[in-house]
Amino acid sequence: MSDLKATLNIDGNAIEYPVIQGSDGPDVIDIRKLYAQTGKFTFDPGFTSTASCESALTFIDGDEGILRHRGYDIEELSEKSSFMEVCYLLLNGELPGKQQLHDFSYTISRHTMLHEQLATFYRGFRRDAHPMAIMCGVVGALSAFYHDSTDIADPDHRKISSHRLIAKMPTIAAMAYKYAMGQPFLYPDNHLSYTGNFLRMTFGVPAEPYVVNPIVERAMDRIFILHADHEQNASTSTVRLAGSSGANPFACIAAGIACLWGPAHGGANEAALNMLREIGTPDRIPHYIARAKDKNDPFRLMGFGHRVYKNYDPRASVMRQTVREIMAELKINDPVFEVALQLEEMALNDPYFIEKKLFPNVDFYSGIILSAIGFPTEMFTVLFALSRTVGWVAQWNEMISDPGQKIGRPRQLYTGPGHRPYVDIAAR
Ligand code: ACO
Repeated sequence: MSDLKATLNIDGNAIEYPVIQGSDGPDVIDIRKLYAQTGKFTFDPGFTSTASCESALTFIDGDEGILRHRGYDIEELSEKSSFMEVCYLLLNGELPGKQQLHDFSYTISRHTMLHEQLATFYRGFRRDAHPMAIMCGVVGALSAFYHDSTDIADPDHRKISSHRLIAKMPTIAAMAYKYAMGQPFLYPDNHLSYTGNFLRMTFGVPAEPYVVNPIVERAMDRIFILHADHEQNASTSTVRLAGSSGANPFACIAAGIACLWGPAHGGANEAALNMLREIGTPDRIPHYIARAKDKNDPFRLMGFGHRVYKNYDPRASVMRQTVREIMAELKINDPVFEVALQLEEMALNDPYFIEKKLFPNVDFYSGIILSAIGFPTEMFTVLFALSRTVGWVAQWNEMISDPGQKIGRPRQLYTGPGHRPYVDIAAR
């Protein structure tokens, strides 16, 4: 705690509030006593100026375009580490040693199978269901299958449920894909890496062996790393809020998946690729830029802009490089990439986007890579959910382990009618 204070002059009284300094980033004004002292709330829809919790997991400096997990830059993690390492780092606070990584990966691999009854659960969905609808349902249903790890007061239960969620998410996601394709589910093969196993369960068939392409495996692993955590975003805040009531972790992660589904959040990569395909050729870009700038047109450039990044999203730079690698490896010449590059260049030189500090976000390029690998657009948000599960789980654990944790309960500015007497229906 610093000696700094913020003074609020209200109703003729000057009240001092402590200013708390984190290890990095802006200081925060501690207003926890505000209501008790003044009878007033703060008003901050969308939480644009509100820190909702303390967290030691992820640091973002949106103005500088910095994203760090436990102090490590995302660029370095995505280049030098693996998704399993990043999972360990987020959950435990430190990078694993060789043996720790081996043991952790082994533990995760021991939880990749689903309860067999869950396979029948899938058959209740329509074949054309959006895979995110299936994800919400199946992940929520996990709490009905794993009663032995839902006591949130028990650290061992929390650990096992965390491992189960991280381990089972690729199996659940791959099964959602297979169900839509009308192909048989594949059981996990624990000789493969976390990511290789997911690729095989998704694209393999029982009739022939599946050979994991190491370049694709690496690109996919990098996408998982880039989406692993992102501080107190909408879905993570949803997980924390759901968890603050003591709900079990499977239910909380299902709530996070529901929030992630929206086009302003995890659904944006699907929307971005659809938009790039709709633009189709570079000559049509100016028309779409003009539409994005038109106040009377609701159209926005999908994959552009971010609540926190007012500079290049560091994840977008890694994605752009990965697109090149994947295109070269798979010998794909998708015109959509050229449209994306030119759209980015035009927007970044346009005063509207410069003034509003709108840059490409992580979703701008990720859809192109995923499409090149063979995923249909409906699966994009599912892959995001798969990757973000570790972040949700780590944030949920951090919250539950905090002895000062309280149920989340925002207040409101009431603007409805004042008190009025009930009017009998005959008199209305
Ligand atoms: N295209 C055109 N104009 C935009 C865009 C865009 N993509 N994004 C923001 N703006 C404009 C807004 O119209 C607004 O203009 P105004 O000040 O004249 O009214 C201004 O920039 C600020 O926009 P807000 O919506 O207030 O900013 P906010 O921080 O609330 O929104 C958001 C951030 C939701 C990401 C927004 O930029 C957006 O809708 N982008 C497109 C969707 C997208 O790519 N989402 C992915 C986010 S990343 C993720 O979830 C992993």
